[in-house]
Amino acid sequence: MSIINKIQKKINGTQQNEWTGLINAYKKFLPINSKTPIITLKEGNTPLIRASKLEKIIGRNIQIFLKYDGLNPTGSFKDRGMTMAISKAKEEGSKAVVCASTGNTSASAAAYARRAGLKAYVVIPDGYVAQGKLAQALVYGAEVLAIKGNFDKALEIVQSIANDNPITLVNSVNPYRLQGQKTAAFEIIEKLGDAPDWLCIPVGNGGNISAYWMGFNEYYNKKKAKTLPKMMGYQAFGSAPLVFDKIYESPETIATAIRIGNPVNWEKAVKAKEESCGNFEAVTETEIIEAYKLIGHEGIFCEPASAASVAGLLKNQKELPNNSKVVCVLTGNGLKDPDCAIKNNDAIFHSNLNPDISEISKIMSL
Ligand code: F0G
Repeated sequence: MSIINKIQKKINGTQQNEWTGLINAYKKFLPINSKTPIITLKEGNTPLIRASKLEKIIGRNIQIFLKYDGLNPTGSFKDRGMTMAISKAKEEGSKAVVCASTGNTSASAAAYARRAGLKAYVVIPDGYVAQGKLAQALVYGAEVLAIKGNFDKALEIVQSIANDNPITLVNSVNPYRLQGQKTAAFEIIEKLGDAPDWLCIPVGNGGNISAYWMGFNEYYNKKKAKTLPKMMGYQAFGSAPLVFDKIYESPETIATAIRIGNPVNWEKAVKAKEESCGNFEAVTETEIIEAYKLIGHEGIFCEPASAASVAGLLKNQKELPNNSKVVCVLTGNGLKDPDCAIKNNDAIFHSNLNPDISEISKIMSL
């Protein structure tokens, strides 16, 4: 074989192995057809990272993995569902999409809609969306409507608008969203060789926990996994409708992503918990921030809502048998919420220093 042929073969090989997004990777498992235009930013295929410091804290030979979905193209798991929802909206000839959001859905919807050439309207609770998420929606060119009300009110409004107008709703009531999101469960099974014993996950609207449960079941039914995990869903105390089985009129938490009082996927989330013999539990603001910092010690930066999964694991750890395997889902990137990071860390920050070598080296105790 000539050297040119060898190089060509190598290039082709690389191209074949290149990740081209989760729709291409999991076509067989998704409701798409040859006419579906695939709108992708190469989402999915996110790392599953062993958390050795957390393992030391918990001990008993329990293995802990963090599914870092904050490494998706817009920094959250929403991209998994959005590649599907926007591809299908485009296939169906939609010209515009709308969503209510605590921030991540709006960032993701804006990005994928822009890529598809669709108009995006996002309705958000004014003053309760983290800076990074708002910045994204603006840069990706969505039209932002900030309301004097919470997420639940925003969702009520967009559901009504989408019912009466030719505009596609891309919240997790859109069934394609959950279809895309279930692929995270496939990735976990492929990496671990089976499902974990526990899947710890933050819960807001209950879409993601339902999507994971669907994904785990599909692989189990296709004999790609031997077991099913217990689904462990965590909510913030001030915003825990599923845990306490009541609607919260005024949900509150530092984890603004999951500041939701009346989850739209309530029944599906309860079904996932019950069928899996899992649990819902509330975690306090302090527990969320402690977990947020511990995740930082692993060299990983997630947003506060994501840290609820690790906070929950720490809270429920006694119920875990020795030698178990746990996956905690880190749903969003820490860069989304710089205010929270700057207010909640144990770092030493020297400000207002003179630009002087001896002064600086003295501080460094060199
Ligand atoms: N984690 C993050 C970072 C989120 O943004 C959300 C939801 C969740 C967890 C909860 O997922 O709703 O499927 O139970 N964020 C939505 C949004 C509500 O508008 O971005 P869920």
